[in-house]
Amino acid sequence: MKNIILTGDRPTGNLHVGHYVGSLRTRVEMQNNSNYDKFIVLIADAQALTDNSGNPQKVRDNVMEVMLDYIAVGLDPKKVIFAIQSEITALPELTAYYMNLVTLPRVLRNPTVKSEVKMRGYGKSEECGIPVGFANYPISQAADITAFKANLIPVGEDQEPMLEQTREIVKSFNRIYGKEVLVSCKSCLPENEICNRLPGLDGNAKMSKSLNNCIYLSDSPEIIKKKVNSIATFPRALEEPGILENNILFTYLEAFANDEHFVKYYPEFKNLDELKKAYQQGGLGDGRIKKFLNDVLQDVLLPIRTKREEAAKNIKYLLDVLKEGTKEANAIANQTLAEVKEAMGINYFVDNKFEEEVLKKYN
Ligand code: TRP
Repeated sequence: MKNIILTGDRPTGNLHVGHYVGSLRTRVEMQNNSNYDKFIVLIADAQALTDNSGNPQKVRDNVMEVMLDYIAVGLDPKKVIFAIQSEITALPELTAYYMNLVTLPRVLRNPTVKSEVKMRGYGKSEECGIPVGFANYPISQAADITAFKANLIPVGEDQEPMLEQTREIVKSFNRIYGKEVLVSCKSCLPENEICNRLPGLDGNAKMSKSLNNCIYLSDSPEIIKKKVNSIATFPRALEEPGILENNILFTYLEAFANDEHFVKYYPEFKNLDELKKAYQQGGLGDGRIKKFLNDVLQDVLLPIRTKREEAAKNIKYLLDVLKEGTKEANAIANQTLAEVKEAMGINYFVDNKFEEEVLKKYN
Protein backbone atom coordinates (compact mmCIF):
# COMPACT_ATOMS: atom_id res chain seq x y z
CA MET A 1 0.00 0.00 0.00
CA LYS A 2 1.09 3.53 -0.70
CA ASN A 3 1.79 5.94 2.10
CA ILE A 4 0.39 9.36 1.37
CA ILE A 5 0.81 11.99 4.04
CA LEU A 6 -1.47 14.99 4.07
CA THR A 7 -2.10 17.79 6.50
CA GLY A 8 -3.02 21.45 6.57
CA ASP A 9 -3.47 24.64 8.53
CA ARG A 10 -5.85 27.57 8.37
CA PRO A 11 -4.05 30.77 7.40
CA THR A 12 -5.60 33.05 9.99
CA GLY A 13 -2.38 34.08 11.72
CA ASN A 14 1.15 32.99 12.40
CA LEU A 15 1.75 29.47 13.64
CA HIS A 16 2.64 29.13 17.32
CA VAL A 17 4.51 26.75 19.59
CA GLY A 18 1.30 24.76 20.17
CA HIS A 19 1.26 23.97 16.43
CA TYR A 20 4.95 23.20 16.67
CA VAL A 21 4.82 20.50 19.35
CA GLY A 22 1.32 19.34 18.39
CA SER A 23 1.98 18.71 14.71
CA LEU A 24 4.79 20.59 12.92
CA ARG A 25 7.52 18.69 14.75
CA THR A 26 5.88 15.34 13.82
CA ARG A 27 5.62 16.44 10.19
CA VAL A 28 9.31 17.28 9.95
CA GLU A 29 10.16 14.00 11.63
CA MET A 30 7.98 12.11 9.12
CA GLN A 31 9.42 14.09 6.22
CA ASN A 32 12.95 13.13 7.18
CA ASN A 33 12.62 9.66 8.66
CA SER A 34 9.70 7.79 7.17
CA ASN A 35 8.75 6.11 3.91
CA TYR A 36 6.10 7.84 1.88
CA ASP A 37 5.08 8.26 -1.72
CA LYS A 38 3.70 11.76 -1.41
CA PHE A 39 3.58 14.42 1.26
CA ILE A 40 1.06 17.21 0.77
CA VAL A 41 0.49 20.27 2.94
CA LEU A 42 -2.59 22.38 2.31
CA ILE A 43 -2.86 26.00 3.26
CA ALA A 44 -6.54 25.76 4.12
CA ASP A 45 -7.77 29.21 3.14
CA ALA A 46 -11.24 28.01 2.18
CA GLN A 47 -11.63 26.44 5.61
CA ALA A 48 -10.35 29.66 7.22
CA LEU A 49 -13.12 31.54 5.40
CA THR A 50 -15.79 29.37 7.03
CA ASP A 51 -15.50 31.56 10.12
CA ASN A 52 -13.80 34.60 8.56
CA SER A 53 -16.17 35.38 5.72
CA GLY A 54 -16.07 39.06 6.60
CA ASN A 55 -12.31 39.21 6.65
CA PRO A 56 -10.89 37.66 3.47
CA GLN A 57 -7.94 40.05 3.59
CA LYS A 58 -6.75 38.49 6.84
CA VAL A 59 -6.78 35.06 5.22
CA ARG A 60 -5.00 36.32 2.09
CA ASP A 61 -2.36 38.11 4.16
CA ASN A 62 -1.56 34.98 6.13
CA VAL A 63 -1.03 32.54 3.24
CA MET A 64 2.65 33.42 2.84
CA GLU A 65 3.07 33.86 6.61
CA VAL A 66 2.06 30.23 7.15
CA MET A 67 4.25 29.18 4.22
CA LEU A 68 7.20 30.91 5.91
CA ASP A 69 6.40 29.16 9.19
CA TYR A 70 6.47 25.81 7.36
CA ILE A 71 9.88 26.47 5.88
CA ALA A 72 11.11 27.86 9.20
CA VAL A 73 10.40 24.62 11.08
CA GLY A 74 12.16 22.58 8.42
CA LEU A 75 9.56 21.41 5.92
CA ASP A 76 11.39 21.04 2.64
CA PRO A 77 9.92 22.09 -0.74
CA LYS A 78 11.96 19.33 -2.35
CA LYS A 79 10.08 16.72 -0.34
CA VAL A 80 6.68 18.29 0.23
CA ILE A 81 3.96 19.54 -2.10
CA PHE A 82 2.56 22.83 -0.74
CA ALA A 83 -0.81 23.92 -2.13
CA ILE A 84 -3.53 26.51 -1.63
CA GLN A 85 -6.82 24.80 -0.82
CA SER A 86 -9.23 27.17 -2.58
CA GLU A 87 -7.32 26.81 -5.85
CA ILE A 88 -8.07 23.09 -5.94
CA THR A 89 -11.48 23.09 -7.52
CA ALA A 90 -12.13 19.38 -7.10
CA LEU A 91 -12.35 19.89 -3.32
CA PRO A 92 -15.67 21.77 -3.15
CA GLU A 93 -17.05 19.40 -5.76
CA LEU A 94 -16.13 16.35 -3.68
CA THR A 95 -17.52 18.10 -0.60
CA ALA A 96 -20.86 18.56 -2.32
CA TYR A 97 -21.22 14.82 -2.97
CA TYR A 98 -19.99 13.83 0.50
CA MET A 99 -22.54 16.15 2.12
CA ASN A 100 -25.23 13.71 1.00
CA LEU A 101 -23.61 10.95 3.02
CA VAL A 102 -23.70 12.80 6.36
CA THR A 103 -26.71 13.76 8.45
CA LEU A 104 -27.19 17.18 9.99
CA PRO A 105 -27.18 15.91 13.60
CA ARG A 106 -23.93 14.02 12.85
CA VAL A 107 -22.22 17.22 11.73
CA LEU A 108 -23.40 19.16 14.76
CA ARG A 109 -22.31 16.42 17.16
CA ASN A 110 -18.63 16.83 16.22
CA PRO A 111 -16.99 17.76 19.56
CA THR A 112 -14.34 20.02 18.02
CA VAL A 113 -16.96 21.90 16.01
CA LYS A 114 -19.10 22.12 19.15
CA SER A 115 -16.36 23.71 21.22
CA GLU A 116 -15.38 26.04 18.37
CA VAL A 117 -19.01 27.10 17.99
CA LYS A 118 -19.09 27.93 21.69
CA MET A 119 -15.78 29.82 21.57
CA ARG A 120 -17.00 31.93 18.65
CA GLY A 121 -20.36 32.64 20.25
CA TYR A 122 -22.26 31.18 17.31
CA GLY A 123 -25.85 30.23 17.88
CA LYS A 124 -26.36 32.64 20.78
CA SER A 125 -28.81 34.71 18.82
CA GLU A 126 -30.78 34.65 15.60
CA GLU A 127 -28.35 37.07 13.89
CA CYS A 128 -25.30 35.16 15.03
CA GLY A 129 -26.13 31.65 13.92
CA ILE A 130 -23.67 28.98 12.89
CA PRO A 131 -22.62 29.55 9.27
CA VAL A 132 -23.62 26.45 7.26
CA GLY A 133 -20.13 26.38 5.78
CA PHE A 134 -18.62 26.28 9.25
CA ALA A 135 -20.77 23.37 10.40
CA ASN A 136 -19.80 21.68 7.16
CA TYR A 137 -16.04 22.09 7.44
CA PRO A 138 -15.40 18.55 8.70
CA ILE A 139 -16.94 17.31 5.46
CA SER A 140 -14.77 19.61 3.38
CA GLN A 141 -11.79 18.37 5.39
CA ALA A 142 -12.78 14.84 4.40
CA ALA A 143 -12.58 16.05 0.80
CA ASP A 144 -9.07 17.48 1.46
CA ILE A 145 -7.91 14.13 2.76
CA THR A 146 -9.62 11.77 0.34
CA ALA A 147 -8.84 13.83 -2.76
CA PHE A 148 -5.22 12.79 -2.29
CA LYS A 149 -6.03 9.28 -1.02
CA ALA A 150 -4.03 10.21 2.03
CA ASN A 151 -3.74 7.58 4.76
CA LEU A 152 -1.42 9.32 7.26
CA ILE A 153 -2.49 12.63 8.75
CA PRO A 154 -0.07 14.39 11.13
CA VAL A 155 -2.31 16.67 13.17
CA GLY A 156 -2.99 17.66 16.73
CA GLU A 157 -5.35 15.54 18.78
CA ASP A 158 -8.10 18.14 18.38
CA GLN A 159 -8.43 17.06 14.74
CA GLU A 160 -9.33 13.47 15.59
CA PRO A 161 -13.09 14.09 15.17
CA MET A 162 -12.43 15.32 11.61
CA LEU A 163 -10.59 12.10 10.80
CA GLU A 164 -13.38 10.06 12.37
CA GLN A 165 -15.83 11.88 10.11
CA THR A 166 -13.56 11.23 7.11
CA ARG A 167 -13.39 7.50 7.85
CA GLU A 168 -17.19 7.37 8.05
CA ILE A 169 -17.52 9.10 4.69
CA VAL A 170 -14.94 6.77 3.10
CA LYS A 171 -16.81 3.75 4.39
CA SER A 172 -20.23 5.01 3.25
CA PHE A 173 -18.95 6.08 -0.13
CA ASN A 174 -17.21 2.82 -0.93
CA ARG A 175 -20.17 0.81 0.30
CA ILE A 176 -22.88 2.79 -1.49
CA TYR A 177 -21.07 3.19 -4.79
CA GLY A 178 -19.67 -0.30 -4.73
CA LYS A 179 -16.02 0.48 -5.34
CA GLU A 180 -12.96 0.94 -3.16
CA VAL A 181 -12.32 4.42 -4.55
CA LEU A 182 -11.60 6.25 -1.30
CA VAL A 183 -8.87 5.40 1.19
CA SER A 184 -9.19 5.36 4.97
CA CYS A 185 -6.87 7.47 7.11
CA LYS A 186 -5.40 7.69 10.58
CA SER A 187 -3.84 10.46 12.59
CA CYS A 188 -0.14 10.66 13.46
CA LEU A 189 -0.02 12.24 16.91
CA PRO A 190 3.05 13.34 18.87
CA GLU A 191 4.49 10.62 21.10
CA ASN A 192 4.73 12.92 24.06
CA GLU A 193 1.13 13.10 25.37
CA ILE A 194 1.58 16.56 26.78
CA CYS A 195 2.24 17.94 23.27
CA ASN A 196 -1.24 17.08 22.10
CA ARG A 197 -2.78 20.06 23.70
CA LEU A 198 -0.42 22.72 24.87
CA PRO A 199 -2.20 25.09 27.26
CA GLY A 200 -2.16 28.82 26.59
CA LEU A 201 -0.01 31.36 28.45
CA ASP A 202 -3.13 32.32 30.40
CA GLY A 203 -3.75 28.76 31.59
CA ASN A 204 -6.58 28.16 29.13
CA ALA A 205 -6.65 24.52 28.03
CA LYS A 206 -5.73 25.43 24.47
CA MET A 207 -3.13 27.73 22.96
CA SER A 208 -5.09 29.48 20.27
CA LYS A 209 -4.82 32.52 18.04
CA SER A 210 -8.39 33.50 18.85
CA LEU A 211 -7.68 33.38 22.61
CA ASN A 212 -4.58 35.56 22.22
CA ASN A 213 -2.51 33.36 24.53
CA CYS A 214 0.25 32.16 22.19
CA ILE A 215 3.97 32.22 21.76
CA TYR A 216 4.45 32.51 18.00
CA LEU A 217 7.29 30.86 16.08
CA SER A 218 8.15 34.32 14.73
CA ASP A 219 8.16 36.12 18.12
CA SER A 220 11.33 38.12 18.91
CA PRO A 221 13.56 37.09 21.85
CA GLU A 222 12.26 40.07 23.86
CA ILE A 223 8.63 39.15 23.28
CA ILE A 224 9.27 35.49 24.19
CA LYS A 225 10.89 36.56 27.45
CA LYS A 226 8.04 38.93 28.25
CA LYS A 227 5.46 36.23 27.54
CA VAL A 228 7.25 33.66 29.70
CA ASN A 229 7.42 36.15 32.54
CA SER A 230 3.71 36.87 32.19
CA ILE A 231 2.74 33.27 32.98
CA ALA A 232 0.75 33.19 36.21
CA THR A 233 2.07 30.88 38.95
CA PHE A 234 0.66 29.79 42.29
CA PRO A 235 1.74 32.25 44.96
CA ARG A 236 3.80 30.55 47.70
CA ALA A 237 6.71 31.21 50.02
CA LEU A 238 10.03 30.09 48.55
CA GLU A 239 10.58 27.28 51.03
CA GLU A 240 7.11 25.84 50.49
CA PRO A 241 6.85 22.82 48.17
CA GLY A 242 6.09 23.62 44.53
CA ILE A 243 2.99 22.07 42.99
CA LEU A 244 3.31 20.41 39.59
CA GLU A 245 -0.37 19.87 38.90
CA ASN A 246 -1.71 22.39 36.36
CA ASN A 247 1.66 24.10 36.41
CA ILE A 248 2.08 25.71 33.00
CA LEU A 249 5.81 26.27 33.43
CA PHE A 250 6.37 22.56 33.90
CA THR A 251 3.90 21.63 31.16
CA TYR A 252 5.94 23.74 28.75
CA LEU A 253 9.19 22.23 30.03
CA GLU A 254 7.75 18.75 29.44
CA ALA A 255 7.02 19.74 25.85
CA PHE A 256 10.28 21.53 25.05
CA ALA A 257 13.15 20.78 27.42
CA ASN A 258 15.64 18.01 26.73
CA ASP A 259 18.66 16.81 28.71
CA GLU A 260 21.00 18.97 26.63
CA HIS A 261 19.13 22.04 27.75
CA PHE A 262 19.97 21.06 31.31
CA VAL A 263 23.66 20.75 30.48
CA LYS A 264 23.59 24.15 28.81
CA TYR A 265 21.34 26.19 31.08
CA TYR A 266 20.71 24.34 34.34
CA PRO A 267 23.66 22.05 35.12
CA GLU A 268 22.59 21.67 38.77
CA PHE A 269 20.07 19.13 37.43
CA LYS A 270 20.49 16.30 34.96
CA ASN A 271 16.99 16.21 33.63
CA LEU A 272 13.40 17.25 34.15
CA ASP A 273 12.66 14.48 36.62
CA GLU A 274 15.39 15.73 38.95
CA LEU A 275 14.20 19.30 38.63
CA LYS A 276 10.63 18.25 39.38
CA LYS A 277 11.72 16.43 42.52
CA ALA A 278 13.64 19.42 43.80
CA TYR A 279 10.74 21.72 42.97
CA GLN A 280 8.32 19.57 44.94
CA GLN A 281 10.63 19.62 47.95
CA GLY A 282 10.49 23.41 48.15
CA GLY A 283 13.15 26.09 48.08
CA LEU A 284 12.97 26.53 44.33
CA GLY A 285 11.21 29.70 43.17
CA ASP A 286 9.15 30.11 40.04
CA GLY A 287 11.40 32.94 38.88
CA ARG A 288 14.26 30.49 38.44
CA ILE A 289 12.01 28.05 36.55
CA LYS A 290 10.84 30.87 34.28
CA LYS A 291 14.46 31.77 33.56
CA PHE A 292 15.18 28.18 32.54
CA LEU A 293 12.00 27.94 30.46
CA ASN A 294 12.95 31.16 28.69
CA ASP A 295 16.44 29.77 27.96
CA VAL A 296 14.91 26.58 26.55
CA LEU A 297 12.37 28.37 24.38
CA GLN A 298 14.97 30.81 23.09
CA ASP A 299 17.18 27.83 22.21
CA VAL A 300 14.36 26.03 20.36
CA LEU A 301 13.03 29.10 18.56
CA LEU A 302 16.29 30.79 17.51
CA PRO A 303 17.05 28.46 14.56
CA ILE A 304 13.38 28.57 13.49
CA ARG A 305 13.32 32.37 13.50
CA THR A 306 16.64 32.54 11.67
CA LYS A 307 15.44 30.17 8.98
CA ARG A 308 12.24 32.17 8.63
CA GLU A 309 14.16 35.41 8.13
CA GLU A 310 16.37 33.75 5.51
CA ALA A 311 13.38 32.29 3.67
CA ALA A 312 11.62 35.67 3.63
CA LYS A 313 14.54 37.11 1.67
CA ASN A 314 13.74 34.71 -1.15
CA ILE A 315 9.98 34.95 -1.15
CA LYS A 316 9.71 34.71 -4.95
CA TYR A 317 11.08 31.17 -4.74
CA LEU A 318 8.39 30.22 -2.20
CA LEU A 319 5.69 31.78 -4.36
CA ASP A 320 6.83 29.55 -7.22
CA VAL A 321 6.91 26.51 -4.93
CA LEU A 322 3.31 27.22 -3.92
CA LYS A 323 2.21 27.82 -7.49
CA GLU A 324 3.78 24.63 -8.78
CA GLY A 325 2.58 22.62 -5.78
CA THR A 326 -0.97 23.85 -6.28
CA LYS A 327 -0.80 22.73 -9.92
CA GLU A 328 0.42 19.30 -8.93
CA ALA A 329 -2.20 18.98 -6.19
CA ASN A 330 -4.91 19.95 -8.70
CA ALA A 331 -3.88 17.15 -11.01
CA ILE A 332 -4.04 14.55 -8.22
CA ALA A 333 -7.38 15.81 -6.89
CA ASN A 334 -8.91 15.92 -10.39
CA GLN A 335 -7.94 12.30 -10.91
CA THR A 336 -9.73 11.27 -7.68
CA LEU A 337 -12.75 13.37 -8.60
CA ALA A 338 -12.94 11.56 -11.94
CA GLU A 339 -12.90 8.20 -10.11
CA VAL A 340 -15.56 9.42 -7.66
CA LYS A 341 -17.82 10.59 -10.47
CA GLU A 342 -17.32 7.36 -12.32
CA ALA A 343 -18.27 5.34 -9.24
CA MET A 344 -21.39 7.50 -8.85
CA GLY A 345 -22.24 7.25 -12.51
CA ILE A 346 -22.18 10.99 -13.06
CA ASN A 347 -19.42 11.05 -15.63
CA TYR A 348 -21.76 11.60 -18.56
CA PHE A 349 -19.43 12.76 -21.27
CA VAL A 350 -16.00 11.26 -20.46
CA ASP A 351 -16.77 8.33 -22.72
CA ASN A 352 -19.75 7.40 -24.91
CA LYS A 353 -21.46 4.97 -22.50
CA PHE A 354 -24.16 7.45 -21.50
CA GLU A 355 -24.83 8.40 -25.08
CA GLU A 356 -25.13 4.76 -26.07
CA GLU A 357 -27.52 4.04 -23.18
CA VAL A 358 -29.73 6.96 -24.10
CA LEU A 359 -29.79 6.15 -27.78
CA LYS A 360 -30.64 2.53 -27.05
CA LYS A 361 -33.44 3.49 -24.70
CA TYR A 362 -35.11 6.11 -26.88
CA ASN A 363 -34.41 4.98 -30.38
N1 TRP B 1 -8.67 21.76 10.41
C1 TRP B 1 -7.24 21.90 10.40
C2 TRP B 1 -6.87 22.91 11.50
O1 TRP B 1 -7.70 23.72 11.86
C3 TRP B 1 -6.69 22.36 9.08
C4 TRP B 1 -6.92 21.42 7.94
C5 TRP B 1 -7.64 21.68 6.80
C6 TRP B 1 -6.45 20.09 7.82
N2 TRP B 1 -7.63 20.64 5.98
C7 TRP B 1 -6.91 19.62 6.55
C8 TRP B 1 -5.68 19.24 8.65
C9 TRP B 1 -6.64 18.33 6.14
C10 TRP B 1 -5.43 17.94 8.21
C11 TRP B 1 -5.91 17.49 6.95
O2 TRP B 1 -5.77 22.91 11.97
